[in-house]
Amino acid sequence: MAIISSKKQPQEPNGQPGKQHQESVKDSSHQELLQAEAALDEQGKQEESIRPQRFADYIGQKDLKDVLDIAIKAAKSRSEVLDHLLLYGPPGLGKTTMAMILASEMGVNYKITSAPALERPRDIVGLLVNLKPGDILFVDEIHRLSRMTEEILYPAMEDYRLDITIGKGSSARIRSLPLAKFTLVGATTRVGALTSPLRDRFGLVQKLRFYEVDELSKIVLRTAQLLQTPITEDGATEIAKRSRGTPRIANRLLKRVRDYAEVKKSGEINQSIAGEALQLFQVDPCGLDWTDRKMLSVIIEQFNGGPVGLETIAAATGEDTQTIEEVYEPYLMQIGYLSRTPRGRTATTAAYKHLGFKPPNEQMSLL
Ligand code: ADE
Repeated sequence: MAIISSKKQPQEPNGQPGKQHQESVKDSSHQELLQAEAALDEQGKQEESIRPQRFADYIGQKDLKDVLDIAIKAAKSRSEVLDHLLLYGPPGLGKTTMAMILASEMGVNYKITSAPALERPRDIVGLLVNLKPGDILFVDEIHRLSRMTEEILYPAMEDYRLDITIGKGSSARIRSLPLAKFTLVGATTRVGALTSPLRDRFGLVQKLRFYEVDELSKIVLRTAQLLQTPITEDGATEIAKRSRGTPRIANRLLKRVRDYAEVKKSGEINQSIAGEALQLFQVDPCGLDWTDRKMLSVIIEQFNGGPVGLETIAAATGEDTQTIEEVYEPYLMQIGYLSRTPRGRTATTAAYKHLGFKPPNEQMSLL
């Protein structure tokens, strides 16, 4: 299935399965599945309800917003479609949200898909031929496109043209079909893994950066208000400080702290309740979790601070190398706890201190 989500996706009222369908279902395990689906739908709806819809509601990423605001105004004033846009950066920083906001600011529809859902050429062809003028096609994990799909995208992006090969061998012919002018928004956590022909076809290439604590704090306050959860400013700051510069994590931690405050306390989240809850969930004051601490302690305790190869770190933590590279390392490097060298990863003095180890330079001076 190529489309993961689209603005016009038809839905049953309340997101519940249709009545007729429900009545025909006798099997109880099927019923359970339907209930689980409904619960997931409900969760998805809640996620959507806290997602900012317009630039005015979107907190942070000021440089990116400034660039896109100009691009939108220029495209609108010339009655043109927006240039193709590549967004890159660590997961959870708001790439999908930004694509949705672009669509509302431009007043167009969007379709959301991801490269693994575009396995066969016909998946991307089906999407492209159904696009209307100005539509935004969002492709997540765009570095994972197959070669054939990528080659279909080149003329589609450049000349809004679909080249279809009919027949095989020496009798093969290429037929070109015109496509509606559209905007491709690609998102990736690994911009270096894109082929250069694909990267070069994006008119705008923009990085999303980690958020500051004050920005995350505002995001937590906004989400808490939407979820009708009472919270103090210092409670929001405590969650923000432990959110690894990432709104998705901030909102996730807020929900966990809300559960804790409702079950164990009076319901309101303040600094000490947020601290207690996050300690229980093993999120430390810098936002590091078990895997971060394990990565650093393996480097320090077993390899004298490094350098250590990625595979070794993956084996020690039970995570795969891609997750380590794309999810864990960017934040550890951002806060200055880890460096990548050509010979492997090393832990910094700050990492030693954070985990309560004596840094090697101080150990030397004692000798
Ligand atoms: N929720 C998630 N990301 C957000 C952002 N950047 N601004 C406001 N609310 C958000």
